[in-house]
Amino acid sequence: MTQPRYYFNDDNHKVNLDFANLGFDYYPCPYRFEAVYELGVWRARGVVEETSMTLPEGSQCLHYGQQLFEGMKVNTGADGKVYAFRPAENSRRMNDGARYLQGPEVPEDLFIRGVEEVTRANLPYVPPYGSGASLYVRPFYLGIGDNVGVKPASKYVFRIFVTPVGPYFKGGFGPDQGKSFRVSTLDRAAPFGTGHIKAGGNYACSFKPGAEAKEQGFAEAIYLDPKEHRYIEEIGAANFLAFKGETLITPDSHSVLPSITRRSLLRIAREIYSWPVEERLIDKAELDEIEAAAACGTAAVITWIREVADGEKTWTFPFDQRWQQLYDSLVGIQTAAIDDPFGWRHEIS
Ligand SMILES: Cc1ncc(COP(=O)(O)O)c(C=O)c1O
Repeated sequence: MTQPRYYFNDDNHKVNLDFANLGFDYYPCPYRFEAVYELGVWRARGVVEETSMTLPEGSQCLHYGQQLFEGMKVNTGADGKVYAFRPAENSRRMNDGARYLQGPEVPEDLFIRGVEEVTRANLPYVPPYGSGASLYVRPFYLGIGDNVGVKPASKYVFRIFVTPVGPYFKGGFGPDQGKSFRVSTLDRAAPFGTGHIKAGGNYACSFKPGAEAKEQGFAEAIYLDPKEHRYIEEIGAANFLAFKGETLITPDSHSVLPSITRRSLLRIAREIYSWPVEERLIDKAELDEIEAAAACGTAAVITWIREVADGEKTWTFPFDQRWQQLYDSLVGIQTAAIDDPFGWRHEIS
């Protein structure tokens, strides 16, 4: 295992990257974490340097999509410490996926140890507090082996890379940063398929609807429920939120990825602001009655929706101050700018 050693010429202890102007792009940091599963046992290789991986050509992840990934952010706090946000939730979601794809679970302590080790190894790449950037952490899980039949693998790789990132949607959050989205006629997931797990195949299926939306000048595609095309599901790689009167509403569906950001925002809404919250079917026709709408996720944080286009019909929404309140509370907790009443910050260093 490589022992990362950095030597600095100043007190900044950060690499010379323009953190404030990063996009949501891959920048190869020096170290990643890796573990392998064989004969029923996970073995941590620990922190490694190779950015490339060598896999057997028959690997299930390459042919049959036996693959999962996660996404979370690590931030430097106002107190100078480095924090991950609810990493145990990402571990649980990855294991929901592992069970579904008939692979072994990654023990939660291995997952968390990986997040901690890879972050510590790449500490000079963790964006400083106030830069608006974060270290994006990408755990992933691959079924590998010398195989050709359609069956689950017997060997697996669990790896985590990190990369410093800025906002997912250009411009980030703000009253003048509303985005336009287009309702897709295509689906990313089947009604009782794999929409609820973070399997790579779901994302390959979103490339065409996403590309069609972007070709027409929209930020992303909005998906409707795959059975009736009547209810709102989600938006690209983000969940849907809206205010109807006093109530914060969000879709309840098997084919939506259960967003950790959404779950956190619902709790903030309920317990910090005492706003009513409903998880239920949201008929597209209800857009007529909704006051404000937003997309939420690790990458998107909260991105408020200025416009929804569906064929010839368009709905427009204003910026709502309640998005600002939710954003300030969520990002405040993540960056230790405010107290963490829910115990969501996971201190790494
Ligand atoms: C399809 C999809 N929906 C929603 C989300 C948001 O989930 P989270 O808040 O856990 O990042 C993501 C991103 O992980 C996603 O890929």
